[in-house]
Amino acid sequence: MTTAGGALQAGRRAFLKWATAVGGFVSAMLAGVPALRAFLSPTFRHTRPEKWIQVGDTSAFDLDTPVKVDFVDTASDAWVETRRLRNVWVYTEDGENFTIYNGRCTHLGCNYFFDTEANVFRCPCHTGYFDVKTGAVLGGPPPRSLDVLEARVEDGMLYTRYEDFRLGVPEKKAV
Ligand code: FES
Repeated sequence: MTTAGGALQAGRRAFLKWATAVGGFVSAMLAGVPALRAFLSPTFRHTRPEKWIQVGDTSAFDLDTPVKVDFVDTASDAWVETRRLRNVWVYTEDGENFTIYNGRCTHLGCNYFFDTEANVFRCPCHTGYFDVKTGAVLGGPPPRSLDVLEARVEDGMLYTRYEDFRLGVPEKKAV
């Protein structure tokens, strides 16, 4: 037979169980949500950091002759950091205004070189070639001009905002 005191005790026990479960759940949420967010955040990070690369002293570039500049590009994809050797070509006629080309051929991404005799950029992969002053395609399969990058000069130092674009398509679209 159940007494009134026994029923009261059973009710208290049920309430304590319930309160403990709720407290545990709230504590887990408070501790777990920030940890989960920190763990997952790189996966959902879509903003691409601006990458300004120091290209060199403006006085170091020859006039009317393109110069290749190599650099190491560090990219972070979620938790993985990769480093790749990249390059740009710098062209100037007056030492004040600079055109900077992404070093990848717009066809399939091979590195092109400066053909000093013909005064053109030549791609060894499928014989594409480009005008050094404008980057325009002069022949071969590349579907668009060389990709011109943003450039700026600060205290005599030339910088470029390095970016890769989709290959093999006529429009210049960021990847
Ligand atoms: S990759 Fe340059 S012509 Fe094909």
